[in-house]
Amino acid sequence: MKTFRIAVIPGDGIGKEVVPEGIRVLEAAGRKFGLTFQWDLLPWSCEYFLAEGRMMPEDGLDRIRHHDAIFLGAVGFPGVPDHVSLWGLLIPIRRGFQQYANVRPVRLMPGVKCPLADRKPGDIDFVVVRENNEGEYSSIGGRLYEGTEFEMAVQQSVFTRHGVDRILKYAFDMAQRRPKQHLTSATKSNGIAITMPYWDERFKAMGAAYPEVRTDQYHIDILTAHFVRNPHWFDVVVGSNLFGDILSDLGPGCTGTIAIAPSANLNPEREFPSMFEPVHGSAPDIFGKGIANPVGQIWAGAMMLEHLGCPEAGQAVLAAIETVLASGPRTPDMGGTASTEDVGKAIAQGV
Ligand code: NAI
Ligand code: MG
Repeated sequence: MKTFRIAVIPGDGIGKEVVPEGIRVLEAAGRKFGLTFQWDLLPWSCEYFLAEGRMMPEDGLDRIRHHDAIFLGAVGFPGVPDHVSLWGLLIPIRRGFQQYANVRPVRLMPGVKCPLADRKPGDIDFVVVRENNEGEYSSIGGRLYEGTEFEMAVQQSVFTRHGVDRILKYAFDMAQRRPKQHLTSATKSNGIAITMPYWDERFKAMGAAYPEVRTDQYHIDILTAHFVRNPHWFDVVVGSNLFGDILSDLGPGCTGTIAIAPSANLNPEREFPSMFEPVHGSAPDIFGKGIANPVGQIWAGAMMLEHLGCPEAGQAVLAAIETVLASGPRTPDMGGTASTEDVGKAIAQGV
């Protein structure tokens, strides 16, 4: 028996509804594959903020530093500004634990209506790799002359050689392992004429070490159009923090719904725990009704199993997800009438 210690942060809104279903399915996979889990539940959230004045305790990172992984729902709720909840919890974990590779699979699944015409399962199957630690999302900058007509705001982008090279290396390694061996880089070196040419330069330099990997690059504006018009062109797509963020919502949007999309925040060197979460947020508009789709959370759990070195268990969860997506039960966002729990139970049974 292998035992994993998992830090569980349900967070806010539907995070609290879908995380239990993720745990249910992982428990089922554990029974089948001889794995046990110790779930350490942490109440860090906007609710915690309103009571304690911070999103997590001051020693929060130290409390989970030695866990095997972090399983997170969603963070953010009306009443606490989104930049406060994000920078108070999610970003400190991603940065403090050097989770620099944000990996988001984009796959058209059976039973999901594709918003793009004439696409069937198998036609769209790629991965967005987003730089998760630096780039455009930086806290360097500030405001001057506030409240006057000279008021100004400046925010600095940060592209370090270390940061750019390690995400490019991660993406090239992934592309090399996949059958198509194709890597696309998102750039904007025409408009963002300092950092993006630098990104392109490092992309070219890194590519020299991967002669088998076919590469191309597109400016982010036309790349978004290609995601919609030619999603079959892509295999692995790498982008900076901002571009990767946008592409990794657009991708799942093109395959039907962000509610089923998973996301892994990886520290590939395994010096720190990695974090697994759905792409979607806390969905305050449907919170409390028990109708949130738990598939994104459960798929994130499958990615966690792979990361923990249990690929067969991860594959079994993914196969159970595919079966339930194809034949139901389905939550209302997918045209069904099932509850969050119905879907979680059906997937757990199918593992
Ligand atoms: P959202 O993803 O929470 O919701 C967008 C729309 O998709 C809503 O209509 C919602 O009902 C629907 N939706 C999302 N997940 C669903 C699911 N599992 N099943 C069925 N429908 C689903 O994004 P929004 O509204 O922009 O953000 C709400 C809050 O969540 C904000 O506070 C935001 O900051 C936070 N957020 C947190 C994220 C995270 O923790 N990683 C990611 C995105 C947003
Ligand atoms: Mg996003």
